[in-house]
Amino acid sequence: MKDYKIEINLTSKKKKKPQFDQLEFGKYFTDHMFIMDYTEGKGWHDPRIVPYQPITLDPAAIVFHYGQTVFEGLKAYLTKNEEILLFRPDQNMKRLNQSNARLCIPQIDEDLALYALKQLITIDRDWIPTLEGTSLYIRPFIIATEPYLGVSSSKNYQFIIILSPVGAYYKEGFNPVKIAVESEYVRAVAGGTGNAKTAGNYASSLKAQEEASKAGYSQVLWLDGKENKYIEEVGSMNIFFKINGEVITPALNGSILEGVTRNSVIQLLRHWNVPVVERRISIHEIHQAYNNGLLEEAFGTGTAAVISPIGEFFWQNEKLVINNGETGPLSKKLFDSLTGIQNGTKPDPFGWVVKV
Ligand code: COI
Repeated sequence: MKDYKIEINLTSKKKKKPQFDQLEFGKYFTDHMFIMDYTEGKGWHDPRIVPYQPITLDPAAIVFHYGQTVFEGLKAYLTKNEEILLFRPDQNMKRLNQSNARLCIPQIDEDLALYALKQLITIDRDWIPTLEGTSLYIRPFIIATEPYLGVSSSKNYQFIIILSPVGAYYKEGFNPVKIAVESEYVRAVAGGTGNAKTAGNYASSLKAQEEASKAGYSQVLWLDGKENKYIEEVGSMNIFFKINGEVITPALNGSILEGVTRNSVIQLLRHWNVPVVERRISIHEIHQAYNNGLLEEAFGTGTAAVISPIGEFFWQNEKLVINNGETGPLSKKLFDSLTGIQNGTKPDPFGWVVKV
């Protein structure tokens, strides 16, 4: 990898760290951050690591009004031998550029971004928690900074990386969550931005999430925006079902995010000779499999929670309780294997782990 020139300005006042045994998700931030600017005609410039601090933007900055922004999420782990490990970080940088393309944001140099990320983590390495279930969550993101109220893509941007020591994403931890099938709102439609990691997808999910939460459910199951019957995602995660020995996940159709964990699960299952297919699957098919006693497991996959077992779906006034509301054996095996590879306690047959 090239030796990129990144200016480094270290903080003179380190923050007090939170209790690492009481971490939640995304509440605390480390001592430093990475920033790089983009100016039309000049390209990306001035990559730098600076003390973690608020940023000042013009109130007319395009990101505030029209949501021209993209982000990523990945995690770093510290092994017993004090090595810092990242999980398939190249995939996140690649996806960041795919999201950039969809949002009309200029491409970044993926190698520079990875180099910057490694530098930043090295500087803030004493923020990496080591207790089971904890990690350092990495949030790269790009915002459109040009002050302009016309609807058009920005001439200026900032690329920022921040770090957050995290615990479990759901308060349930690795315990099964209850999911309400969403029949009114949709997350994304084909041709929209569902396959890009951009703020609008998450903003538009809040209403459904809030209503589900009031009714006692952790998240919603998203159905397609056209026929309202084909399964797309669960909350902010991809979804898998195990039906009669076969694992099924919705095929990528333009409105589903191509998850790095989703891809890793598919590869692991193939490696274990567990049949796995990517195809369209309707909520009616799930209901029928449930009625026939063939719905063995369901789980969400994502960087934040890794594997999130589903204990119950609520659909059309009916509760579909899966595996007695308990974590199924395949969900458990996937969680243990993936987190083991990620934190360096299990062999990495695919070469997914990158040392910082
Ligand atoms: C993930 O599962 O990693 C997500 O996309 C959640 C994130 C938006 C916090």
